[in-house]
Formats: sequence, structure tokens, C-alpha cells
Amino acid sequence: AEALRVGIAGLGTVGASVARVLAEKAAELTRQCGREITVTAVSARDATRDRGIDLSAAKWFDDPVELARSADIDVFVELIGGEDGPARASVIAALEAGRHVVTANKALLSRHGVALAEIAEEKGILLNYEAAVAGGIPVIKTMREAMAGNTISRVFGILNGTCNYILTRMEAEGLSFEDCLKDAQRLGYAEADPTFDIEGNDTAHKLSILTSLAFGSRIAPDDIYLEGISNITQADIRAASELGYRIKLLGVALRTESGIEQRVHPTMVPTASVIAQVHGVTNAVAIETDILGELLLSGPGAGGNATASAVVGDIADIAKSRPGFQHGPVFGRPAKELQPYKKAR
Ligand code: HSE
Repeated sequence: AEALRVGIAGLGTVGASVARVLAEKAAELTRQCGREITVTAVSARDATRDRGIDLSAAKWFDDPVELARSADIDVFVELIGGEDGPARASVIAALEAGRHVVTANKALLSRHGVALAEIAEEKGILLNYEAAVAGGIPVIKTMREAMAGNTISRVFGILNGTCNYILTRMEAEGLSFEDCLKDAQRLGYAEADPTFDIEGNDTAHKLSILTSLAFGSRIAPDDIYLEGISNITQADIRAASELGYRIKLLGVALRTESGIEQRVHPTMVPTASVIAQVHGVTNAVAIETDILGELLLSGPGAGGNATASAVVGDIADIAKSRPGFQHGPVFGRPAKELQPYKKAR
């Protein structure tokens, strides 16, 4: 089969890791996918920065929208970030040009995911976004494919690696909030604007996507009770600990008789509970269903390699797909059939 030609827009922590993994694992990926995967085009803000990877074989685009439409690619990988601007414009351009899309952009999907899914489904192309929720944990594939037929009653978890890293180190090492945040930024866990992490917006973006998958409803990013961790002090953490609890930033979505409830806030979890053992940048997602019962997935939730792992998996799925042999709808049900969101009273 012909090589799958990949264009990557955005060469920050995640983009550079994706390019590196595709290069280092080229032979293994070719064996697994039955065809080669090659990066034929890239785009980023800074053309001169040394990222420690050889991109000389790829065509350079200053404008990601031009890259998205380019005839040099079969798959457009959007790793720019942000809910509007070049990220949204380039994803729309790629879908309209009939290119498959892989994105790690939870803000974009939370706000515009259903509209983007409608375009992809109309065109019969793939819009894959495993890396957008809980980093390297394959929660999208699990909910969309492995749990078919299950009726989900609740989904909740630790969905932001930066916050969990901060809370873990504040408790274990007595460090200040600010020092922990700086380290999270240095390690490439935090968002470009870290207020999105610490104020809970990033968790809300991810939760809203899981809510849609869980309940077959349209994504409702504004119907989420939101409280972040920026006010959590050492005194709070010590007080919780004395009572036998740990503080975790949780995102929770559940179905009630009157509708769907979504919330993001610091939560006291019993120290002996499984979720309290989720440390550092690790994320965890718990899903409760009628057939399966309770499922708990945990694993690396942020950072270049963890996120690249999910992005590369999504690219590999496209390499393995054939016309007439593709995955189902983007959010588990056809985008046009997603139910209107009904907020719990
Ligand atoms: N800033 C995010 C986090 C990156 O800390 O979880 C992964 O989405």
C-alpha cells in the first residue's frame, strides 16, 4: 500500500514528540499498519527553533490552513491548541478538503466538536481525538468502541495532570502551589495558559467530551459547575489529611431523573480509596455502566510522550482504515442524532 502522508501543525511539546515517535518507530509502525507513515509537511510559528528532530524531508508551511488543504497530505494533525483561531480554521479546512484529522485539542472539541463531527461524518472521513482527553489513556476508544451497548450512569475522574501533579507534591513534599506549577510547566504538562489548568477549564473541556460520549447528548461546555484549585492551601491539604482525606480535582458527570449534571471542583476523597492513590501527572477515569459495572482506567495524563502515544495511535488507526472499513461516528452516535443537552434541575 502507498505510504500515509501526515501533515503536523504545531511543533510544541506534543508536536515535536509525535514527529520523534513517528521517526523512531517507523519500522514497527509499518509492520503494524501494513503501510508506511511519513511526515510530509509541517507548520509551526517558529521555523528556526531547534527541536532536536530532523524535519528536513517535510515541506514547511507558515500557514496551517494552507497545510491543511495541501495535496501533500492524507492526514492533518492539529496540535496548535486553542478553541478558535488557526486551530479551528485549519481543522475545518482539512475536513472540507477531505483530509482525515487527528487532534489533541480539547478546547476546540468542547466548543465546536459536534459541528466538526457533522462535516467529518458527511464526508465519510475520520476525526480522531484520543489525545484530547486524559492524555495517553485510551478512554475515547474504550467508551466509543469497547463499551458499545452499555448504558452509562456516571463518568468521573482526574482529568488534568498539572493539577494532580501540583496537589500531589504539595501534600507529599510540603511545597508551595507556585513552585509546583512552575515545575509542571517546565516538564511540559501545563497548557500554554496555565490558568486553564488550575482554574479547572481544561478539566471541564475534557469532561464535556466524555459527557457527550457517555450520554449521547450534544456537548455542553457552559453547563458545568466550575471551581479550580488555585485557592487550595497547605492548611487545606493538612486539614483534609487529618480527617483521612486527600484533595483531588475531579470532573464528574452523571445522569439524574431530571437531566445531566456536570461539575468540576476540588473534592475530598478518602485516603484509602483507589482514586486517592492516583499520584502526580497520572489521570484516572471511572465509568459506571449497567452491563460492565465499574471500570477504572488510569495512566499518564499529560506530557509529550504520553500525548504523542495517543496521537500516534490515532494516526495508525487511519493508516489501517480503508474506504468502507472505518470507525463509527465521532462521538459514538451520528452527530446529527445527538440529543439536545438537558441540564439536571
Ligand atoms: N495541561 C493538560 C494537563 C495537558 O495538565 O492535563 C493534557 O491535556
